[in-house]
Amino acid sequence: MRKLTYYIACTIDGFIGDPEGDATSMFKFADGPYMEWMNAEYPETVPTQGRQMFGIDGENRHFDTIVQGMGSYRLALDIGVTSPYSHLREYVATRSTTESPDPAVELIADDLVGRVRELKAEDSPLDIYLCGGSTIAGELIEEIDELIIKTYPQVYGTGMPMFGAGFEPRDFELGDVRAFDNGVLVRTYTRKR
Ligand SMILES: NC(=O)c1ccc[n+]([C@@H]2O[C@H](COP(=O)([O-])OP(=O)(O)OC[C@H]3O[C@@H](n4cnc5c(N)ncnc54)[C@H](OP(=O)(O)O)[C@@H]3O)[C@@H](O)[C@H]2O)c1
Repeated sequence: MRKLTYYIACTIDGFIGDPEGDATSMFKFADGPYMEWMNAEYPETVPTQGRQMFGIDGENRHFDTIVQGMGSYRLALDIGVTSPYSHLREYVATRSTTESPDPAVELIADDLVGRVRELKAEDSPLDIYLCGGSTIAGELIEEIDELIIKTYPQVYGTGMPMFGAGFEPRDFELGDVRAFDNGVLVRTYTRKR
């Protein structure tokens, strides 16, 4: 089975965006050695437009598939981008949109968990990038095998949580930890089952 990895940026207090999900206040930390390392290690997590802008054309290293909710995908649609991760197989969960805005993007309307389990069961050396947002991360929480949490040195006080899920403790084992001079901390956790 390949892994479902929730790769996500958040504040120190664990919010992935303001109460509406807007994470732009964190963007100012996406620079310098931190960004150079992330772009080299996880080039496939940079949206296609950004890859073109920054000259990132490396092969996919960790992921070949992306899953996101319509709330997250809509950010791309709003700026006229219908295939924001064209270097990955793109899946978008939505019940309200029945026709995909792009032939490269497959919509998932029914049985999100079952469809993700099918993707995990595929024979591939690369894993699945769960992009978010909060709602589908909450719905897929039991399927998440790995967390890569990019913590930015900001506190929101309130906002959109990492998981839109109910209370239930789940254990994870800490793996790689990297701290950068700009205050960003990147931690990798594996789900203990
Ligand atoms: N900090 C970060 O790194 C980061 C990363 C990604 C996203 N975000 C933020 O997250 C926000 C979006 O999060 P969100 O929680 O509002 O939305 P979301 O999780 O991206 O998407 C929710 C939508 O997905 C669809 N959906 C949910 N469950 C489904 C199911 N079981 N089957 C089929 N479709 C399903 C529904 O779409 P329909 O309403 O169309 O039916 C639902 O409205 C954005 O504002 C973005 O900025 C932050």
